[in-house]
Amino acid sequence: MNIKEVLELARPNILKLTPYRCARDDYSTGILLDANENNFGNAAHGQEELHLEKYPDPHQKELKSLFKNFRNLDSSDRLFFGVGSDEGIDLVIRVFCTPGKDKILICNPTYGMYSVCAQVNDVEVVKVPLKVDDGSFQLEVDKIKQAIDVEKNLKVCFFCNPGNPTGTLLRRSDIIEILQYFKGIVVVDEAYIDFSYDENHPLETQSFTNAISKYPNLIVLQTLSKSFGLAGIRFGVSVSAKEVAQLFNNTKAPYNISTLTHLTAKTALEEAGIKLMRSNLNKILMERERLTEKLKSIKRIGKIKGTNDANFILFEVLDKAGGKPCNSSAVFVYKKLADDYKVVVRYRGTELGCEGCLRVTVGTPSENLEFLNKLMLVVSS
Ligand SMILES: Cc1ncc(COP(=O)(O)O)c(C=O)c1O
Repeated sequence: MNIKEVLELARPNILKLTPYRCARDDYSTGILLDANENNFGNAAHGQEELHLEKYPDPHQKELKSLFKNFRNLDSSDRLFFGVGSDEGIDLVIRVFCTPGKDKILICNPTYGMYSVCAQVNDVEVVKVPLKVDDGSFQLEVDKIKQAIDVEKNLKVCFFCNPGNPTGTLLRRSDIIEILQYFKGIVVVDEAYIDFSYDENHPLETQSFTNAISKYPNLIVLQTLSKSFGLAGIRFGVSVSAKEVAQLFNNTKAPYNISTLTHLTAKTALEEAGIKLMRSNLNKILMERERLTEKLKSIKRIGKIKGTNDANFILFEVLDKAGGKPCNSSAVFVYKKLADDYKVVVRYRGTELGCEGCLRVTVGTPSENLEFLNKLMLVVSS
């Protein structure tokens, strides 16, 4: 696809949109009496120096340049910053899908927000499940192509890579095949991409950010919530063709990134922040390894599902006889852990291909130890 064809996929009202402009777009220094702010200062006692009485920077140019360098991108014009990658998911649907007419495609089991955002926007969801019979959680490329052929008004395919809750990195060649076949938008959600890195698979070969200039219909979503440990600031990123990024930036609320979020993201994306992120990442990867091995040794725990490429582990709880993955046993363990021991994991047993499954986030060494001890107590009771 060329960029002209990609832009033709956007909703006509979005293409015609005159974006909101403020006086600050033209003048940002001097005596600023243009935005009805409260120049007597903010009421957040002790935080006067942050000047929170002023609206935040709507364009975040410096921050975009930091992110561009961090991910080795060719231009910061490819970036949109949102309130978590959840805002990116919603924007993709709002920009490209006409309510009541267009459709998105998802490969379940997958992250729940694609469907939620589609429903909020009155957009139909077509499901082509991942391969679950062989436990690989990979894409069914031929079935996706069939769906692309038969489903009218299919505008966007969402691929979660590595998957949630599957924790599995998708085959790169499969996504490329769809990118080349589909005359629509392909979103690759890389919320967990940093955890899929190892010596044999350097990040540069895993992430789809390096394919952005080749495929104008590709949108990569990333976030500071996971590897950077900044879920609390709500900061997500979309990397795409410049023209698509422009549509997102035209459509977003003018001041979606708060001053506090902006300042924190800037600190994280400077050299010391990136170093700290990498050091924590290595610790998480080591703990993931350790936790996986320990889980395997517990009698009523079955398979570790998928290929374990994220910062969580999906595992089976077996029935009392210790034979088969079992949803009622998984629910029992889930509730007992939370109610009696205040250890909260996620029950995923109702997801396709996840019979009897719980998903546990890799915590700190002491949290993981506590989780394992309590899990052993519960399954042996
Ligand atoms: C696959 C996936 N994408 C996106 C998100 C949302 O991330 P954010 O905190 O950036 O909104 C999550 C959160 O758990 C996720 O699992």
